[in-house]
Order: sequence, then structure tokens, then C-alpha cells
Amino acid sequence: MPAQVSIDVRGLTKRYGRLLAVDHISFQVYRGEVFSLLGPNGAGKTTTVSMLSTLRMPTEGDALVEGYSIVRDRTAVRRIIGVVPQDLTADDELTGFDNVLLMARLHGYRGKEAEERAKEAIRFMELEDAANRRVMYYSGGMRRRLEIAMSVVHDPQVVFLDEPTVGLDVQSRRHIWDLIRRLKKVGVTVVLTTHYMEEADELSDRVAIMDHGHIVALGSPDELKSRIKGDRIYLKLGSPDEVRRALEAISVEFKDVSEVDGQLVVKVPSSADAMPQLIKLLSSFDVRELRVVRPNLEEVFLELTGHGLRDEESFDTFKFRRLMGAMRS
Ligand SMILES: Nc1ncnc2c1ncn2[C@@H]1O[C@H](COP(=O)(O)OP(=O)(O)O)[C@@H](O)[C@H]1O
Ligand SMILES: [Mg+2]
Repeated sequence: MPAQVSIDVRGLTKRYGRLLAVDHISFQVYRGEVFSLLGPNGAGKTTTVSMLSTLRMPTEGDALVEGYSIVRDRTAVRRIIGVVPQDLTADDELTGFDNVLLMARLHGYRGKEAEERAKEAIRFMELEDAANRRVMYYSGGMRRRLEIAMSVVHDPQVVFLDEPTVGLDVQSRRHIWDLIRRLKKVGVTVVLTTHYMEEADELSDRVAIMDHGHIVALGSPDELKSRIKGDRIYLKLGSPDEVRRALEAISVEFKDVSEVDGQLVVKVPSSADAMPQLIKLLSSFDVRELRVVRPNLEEVFLELTGHGLRDEESFDTFKFRRLMGAMRS
């Protein structure tokens, strides 16, 4: 049976002055799936989700959410979606319960019904114990769960979560993942953005990889990973000069060697087979770190864009290039 389309995105575009933040993207999200936009900071994920959830108006293009246009039927779209923005919105001075209750009232529920809705959303997000505490005393994970509770109080068909686990520890992150899976289980279509490849990998039915306002690849995590063949061996060396010399030395025996973000990357069919020879070639070098990476979404991203997903890496590149420049001059 063909999947039913929940969101149909057609040439969606956003300009901020001269910057083309989202550049004519088109894709479909199926009903009841978890769909991730994966990309580094500045890729255009928040802008895309903001347009789909009617918080920002597209410059060009359109999208239908359950048949409603985000340009022409904005009120109808708002009724059937829930949004958890990147910048959290709960009121610190209020209790968790009162925040959710306020949301229920904003959606038009009154009296007992509003209270029942709020209670149910709190229960769904496993916040009963903290419901009557003020939000200022919540941990990061609890705040995130509260925001999700606030976004689902009106039983939306589609929920948008912008970087739902950013800054959380591993345990809180896993808790949020479980709750997102629970949303899917009750039939909600979930669209999330993330720059964590593990999050996209573990949680999503399908992933759209985004970079510089474009979707550079779209598919299930397995489909995307199957594009990468073999292993990658990453090497950190003592200095940029070592990197350059090691690259030359390794290239004699290995065909696919490159420098990415200041590290050497050797692509091999099998790391186990390549290792003895590689170690021999590196014997006279100051190798600080050697890491074997099996195909993952980060590697897919690197392969497609030539740069990494994480902020630290682009910062490293910057520092590295400056260092190289200083050494040359
Ligand atoms: N309100 C805005 N005004 C001007 N530029 C913006 C605005 N919001 C985002 N941008 C720029 O648009 C690009 C995409 O940003 P964003 O959608 O926030 O990306 P992401 O969520 O993937 O980090 C970035 O270059 C960002 O600086
Ligand atoms: Mg963002």
C-alpha cells in the first residue's frame, strides 16, 4: 500500500535579504512517520520548520499540511499541528501544569475539559511528579518534556520538534526519544530537526540531509548509509606539517586519502585488512589518534558535502586553516 502523504512541500523558499536560507526544497512526509531534517547549524532547518508550522511566511513556494496550504490556510494548519520551537516558550514562573493548561485554553478548551486535556498531556510526557512545581526548578530534560506536553494538548495530527534534545545529557535524550516514539505509536506524524546523527539514525523512518538551504539526500537511515562503502580510518597527527607528509606517505599505498577538518581520512574496503600496512607506513609519524569509523550518517553527510555536521569541526577547520596560513607566511 502506498504511504499516505501528510506534508507535501513544493519549492519552499526563504530569503533573508540577500541570503537564500531555504532554496526551493521539495519533499513529502508520510502520515505517521518520524521524519528528520538533519544538518549542521545554519543549514536552514529552523527556517523550514518555521515555515511549515506557519511561524514564518515563505518567500516562494508552498506546502500542504494534511491538505491545508501553509500560505493560504494558515489558521487551519495551526489547528492540526503542534510545535516545539528551538527557543523554549514555557513560563518559568508558572507550574508545569499551568503552562499546559494555558495552552489548552489557547486552543479553545474550557473548564473541566481544559483541565482533563492538560492532565492527559502531562501524563503522556511522564511529568506527573513535577506537574505542580514551578518551571524554574525543572531540569533541561523536564523542560523539553513540558514543551512537548504543551504542543500535544489539542491532539495534533502533526508535531514539529526543532532540535528536541539539544544540550541534554544522554539519559534525558534517550527519554525524549522514547516519548517521540510514543507519539508515533499513537499515530502522530513527527517532523524533527537535529544536528545529531545518532538521533536521526535511531529515531527516524526517513531522513532529509540538509546543507546550505538544500536537501542533499533523502531516504531511510539504512538507505543513506548503504551509499557509503567500506570503512574510514581517521588519523590525528602532531602538526599540520605531519599531516601533509603523512598524506604523501600513505598515498603511495592507499588510493583514497584526503584531509578533512585537519585530520587524515583513509577510505578502505576493510579496516582490518588495511591496518597492518597502514601502521607500517605511519611508523615514523607522530600519530595522536587513530579512529576506525563504520558507515554512519555523519559519513554520508561528509561524503555529500565535504564538511562535518558538528560545530566543533567547522571551528577546527577554521583554526587549522589559520594555523596553516601562519606557518606558510
Ligand atoms: N531572522 C533571520 N534573519 C536573517 N537571517 C536569518 C534569520 N534566521 C535565520 N537566518 C539565517 O538563515 C540561515 C539558516 O538558519 P536556520 O534556519 O536557523 O538554520 P538551522 O536551524 O539549520 O541552524 C542561517 O545562515 C541563519 O543565519
Ligand atoms: Mg535551528
